[in-house]
Amino acid sequence: MTHAELDPTHRCLVVDDEPRLRQALVRLMQGEGFTCFEAGSGQQALEVLEREPVALVLSDMRMPGMDGAALLREVRARYPDIAMVMITAVAEVDVAVACLSAGAMDYLTKPFVFEEVRARVAQALEKRRLLRENRDYQERLEERVRAQARRIEELFLAGVQSLAEALELKDPYTRGHSIRVSQYGGAIARMLGMEADVVRNIELGGHLHDIGKIGVREDVLNKAGPLTREEYEHIMTHPVLGWRILKPLLDDNPVVLNIVRSHHERMDGMGVPDGLAGEAIPREARIIAVADSFDAMMSQRPYRRGLSYADTLAELRRSSGTQLDPEVVAAFLEVVASGAIDLGERGSGVAAARALGAAHAEET
Ligand SMILES: [Fe+2]
Repeated sequence: MTHAELDPTHRCLVVDDEPRLRQALVRLMQGEGFTCFEAGSGQQALEVLEREPVALVLSDMRMPGMDGAALLREVRARYPDIAMVMITAVAEVDVAVACLSAGAMDYLTKPFVFEEVRARVAQALEKRRLLRENRDYQERLEERVRAQARRIEELFLAGVQSLAEALELKDPYTRGHSIRVSQYGGAIARMLGMEADVVRNIELGGHLHDIGKIGVREDVLNKAGPLTREEYEHIMTHPVLGWRILKPLLDDNPVVLNIVRSHHERMDGMGVPDGLAGEAIPREARIIAVADSFDAMMSQRPYRRGLSYADTLAELRRSSGTQLDPEVVAAFLEVVASGAIDLGERGSGVAAARALGAAHAEET
């Protein structure tokens, strides 16, 4: 049985080393309809509290062993829901005031005036009730805010998802590609020890990296054959186009925006759109560049066959340092070697290539 299960509102504990005073208080409280427990010391009081849930503790200040102030500290720490009223001699009022700042609800001075005890106890319990209500309300509010934040994120992701689906209708090649790039990117980021929320954003960025292709002409997107220079340049407007589409939606998410804008930058500075080089390229974009290159090389396009698994890994390694970030390539080869990503059919029949991946990971 926990404290919450048994409503302790009308249960109290009276703590005093003088039996006569204690019993007088007990009778008084019983007259008020309370079930009373008694303790002759602070230590005993704590033992009673372990067994009996109460709403209120009335405790003498001055007791041998654990005194009232020490008991107050223990009760505050262990049972924050219990209201404590301290009992003190008139001469100890300064001590009683110190107890108030340590969390006592109130204090009574000896000798008691019964009416005053009644009034102070009622006040202390009312204050306790208000504090609890306030706290419950706050907790419910926080839960609601959290639920709404989750809902907003869900709606946002659903919106983003429909953008991605619009692109997939237009460019069948992107179907699957975006999801795979997202998975590979996430696996690389985890291998590099990046934090969970960054990893999540890298996955989202991988999913959306080519979203700007929505603005690329279909005849160019689906052309069966090599592209002219003009067509190639038209396709390569997609990073900036995607960045412009997502900027108003994702202004507070630089990781995704960087991926969309900079996933075609190259380490040697020969990439697009900004000609960034080396570490000037955001790390998240360097990660997705590796994931994207790997998947693009493995894929059949209208105008070329996909490379074999082994050739693709070899090609990644060749591009390491000029086009791709060597650290990221090494991490990807490690991911491949560890079997952490599912390559499906594309990885089948190439156990040897996985071993090759392991060899690469060791060398780099
Ligand atoms: Fe792209």
